[in-house]
Amino acid sequence: MAGRSVVVGVGHYLPERVVPNSEFEKTLETTDEWIRTRSGIERRHFAAEDETTSDLATKAAKAALADAGLTADDIDAIVLATSTADLTFPSAATMVQAQLGMTKGFAFDVQAVCAGFVFALSNANALILSGQAKRVLVIGAETFSRIMDWTDRSTCVLFGDGAGALVLEEQEGQGTADDRGILATDLNSDGRYKDLLYVDGGVSTQSTGHLRMQGNQVFRHAVEKLARTAEVALERAGLTGDDVDWIVPHQANIRIIQGTAKKMGLPMENVVVTVQDHGNTSAASIPLALSVGKQRGQIKRGDLIVTEAIGGGLAWGAVALRW
Ligand code: UT7
Repeated sequence: MAGRSVVVGVGHYLPERVVPNSEFEKTLETTDEWIRTRSGIERRHFAAEDETTSDLATKAAKAALADAGLTADDIDAIVLATSTADLTFPSAATMVQAQLGMTKGFAFDVQAVCAGFVFALSNANALILSGQAKRVLVIGAETFSRIMDWTDRSTCVLFGDGAGALVLEEQEGQGTADDRGILATDLNSDGRYKDLLYVDGGVSTQSTGHLRMQGNQVFRHAVEKLARTAEVALERAGLTGDDVDWIVPHQANIRIIQGTAKKMGLPMENVVVTVQDHGNTSAASIPLALSVGKQRGQIKRGDLIVTEAIGGGLAWGAVALRW
């Protein structure tokens, strides 16, 4: 027998405002065609002016709790992955805790940019396996529209806002790869690559700053590192690519998603793709894709899923789990 962190609920929230690629043609030297062919993105959602990351996160959390048939009272901890928290402090997670009316347990943010949700899942799993929590809300939520340089066509057309959430619950398994729940994780970072993707501001430098990215350099790292981290997580679970029902990748670029699947020897029929509708929502992209994938009827109970993500840091990682 072995403890496992099993997904018992999933949900998401997307802000109302949908912005098609054609909007950018009005203000930038860009085309819908360029954005589609280079990134796979067709539209993205942007938060309303008065809508913050913790608002999006709370709505996704409520949807996940409803899906699980649970209330906030049943939750021991909230782990929220974001790089765009409402305030410098307190954490967006504690704001969600308050908005849910949860007065016990603990809540904190995890910041690993686009890899944030994989880091949050891995940390939530560790909390459960070490007996510190029985049920954990794991959320990815972002308002990247707030850190865009609207004059930089190479970045501002790529990102969007949104939130997704999972409820993880401790359940007994057999200790084999047939168990439901998180089977293995793999986390990595290499701070030597800081200049490839960063925000040129922050508390300690006394500004908010804008996202800066050398996209083609990040691209070069992405496929190789994503395929490898997914393989490592699967190996740790005693599995291979052949066992995978769904790759649920970070949704940054359709060409990265296709390249990674190909390197793993899997056809696109086994990949959940939402990048066309959401753009790159950083730490929110994987839980959004899990929720939409379930809604579409793609992801079913018992399916073997591998998630993988890379972003600023560079930080990257993967989680192998059975749904
Ligand atoms: O989620 C975190 C991790 N981030 C990523 O995974 C993003 C990784 N990178 C990418 O997705 C791609 O590199 C991009 C979509 C950002 C760019 O695609 P690319 O094929 O790597 O293009 P590029 O950066 O090499 O740029 C090609 C050309 C350049 O023009 P020149 O120098 O060849 O004349 C750019 O100036 O495309 C130009 N360009 C644009 N043209 C029209 C850049 N942005 C645009 C634009 N519209 N919006």
